[in-house]
Amino acid sequence: LLAALQPPPADPILALGGLFAADPRPGRIDLGIGIYKDEAGATPIMRSVKAAEHRLLDTRTTKRYVGARGDRQFAAAMIDLVFGTATDSGRVASLQAPGGTGALRVLAQFLAAVRPEATVWLPDPTWLNHEAIFAAVGLKTAYYPYYDRERSELRFDALCERLRSAAPGDIVLLHGCCHNPSGADLDEAQWRTLAGLLLERDLIPFVDIAYQGFGRGLDEDALGLRILAEQLPELLAASSCSKNFGLYSERVGCAMVLARNPREAEIATARMTVHARTLYSMPPDHGAAIVRTILEDDALLTDWHSELEAIREDMNGKRLHLAKAFRQASGTDEFGYLAHGFGMFSLLTLSPAQIEHARSAFGIYIVEDGRINVAGLPTSRIDDFAEAILAIRKA
Ligand code: LMR
Repeated sequence: LLAALQPPPADPILALGGLFAADPRPGRIDLGIGIYKDEAGATPIMRSVKAAEHRLLDTRTTKRYVGARGDRQFAAAMIDLVFGTATDSGRVASLQAPGGTGALRVLAQFLAAVRPEATVWLPDPTWLNHEAIFAAVGLKTAYYPYYDRERSELRFDALCERLRSAAPGDIVLLHGCCHNPSGADLDEAQWRTLAGLLLERDLIPFVDIAYQGFGRGLDEDALGLRILAEQLPELLAASSCSKNFGLYSERVGCAMVLARNPREAEIATARMTVHARTLYSMPPDHGAAIVRTILEDDALLTDWHSELEAIREDMNGKRLHLAKAFRQASGTDEFGYLAHGFGMFSLLTLSPAQIEHARSAFGIYIVEDGRINVAGLPTSRIDDFAEAILAIRKA
């Protein structure tokens, strides 16, 4: 069984974390996995989350199974959070899933059963795990142009042109906000154009919304998804509470399918439930119970909103600072795009050798595609960081 087995290729994001943990240099900076960090490098539990946990500890009387669909009140609250008033919630099939990745995988499995012949179109570039998730269920993937690394800008015209050649019934994966890894998002007019194109070409959007609230605001970050939900008959969405609730390790996500009517939504939920049952049986309860407690309580909700706003403002402040530091150190506005990006991530144009050099000589850990987690950069280190990157590029 095992004699001829070769080790798998390392996961580029997770392996970087392992290298960072093994590095004894005190000043090293981890810009790898997407975690929000405070100035001291810590990722504290949010106040509202702690309060909800206390409440659960005091009031919960059982650890009975939650069932393969998970907590239905949680899922209902997530539909409101993500879709707002864009659609009748009865049209949305939903299932609590173990994290955003769990939601993606359940939806991928659902698609593989319902539309096995479809190609899933992914943005180039995209999150390094997307292709593997669809490949794992046997779906074909292809890429559409999304972001020009050399010019640090969206390729919207090329995106539209490529999607016009997709076959009717194909699936188009879109990042709802805070595009991972580029931080470059579509604006409202572009979402509307895209909605028209998808409708005309009979393409089905699949929105991965893992950073709602990290870009412009909770409603603002869902605008693109809501435009699609208003204009298209069907849509899939994978939502994550890892980042906006800081519940990374608890694995809280929601798989959703907008159907043409409540009857089809019920069937879609039942189909997803069957997939969940064979994949992991039932989702973990604790994190979703925290989210539900917050979303259903006015005082906790208000506190969570203000905590989320503080995180967002801190990240946006870091982006401005970073762009300014690069401007001062380089005398050019080449890095001005960093100030205009949204969410945790942006890309630096660095070769693999330069990324390796950043790690070995400066203790700066950058993902192999050039992605940096802006939210992992201490403000006090931003100026040094900009100088180090410029030195690496000159070497
Ligand atoms: C990331 O891209 O860093 C996060 O989404 C965490 C992960 O699972 O890769």
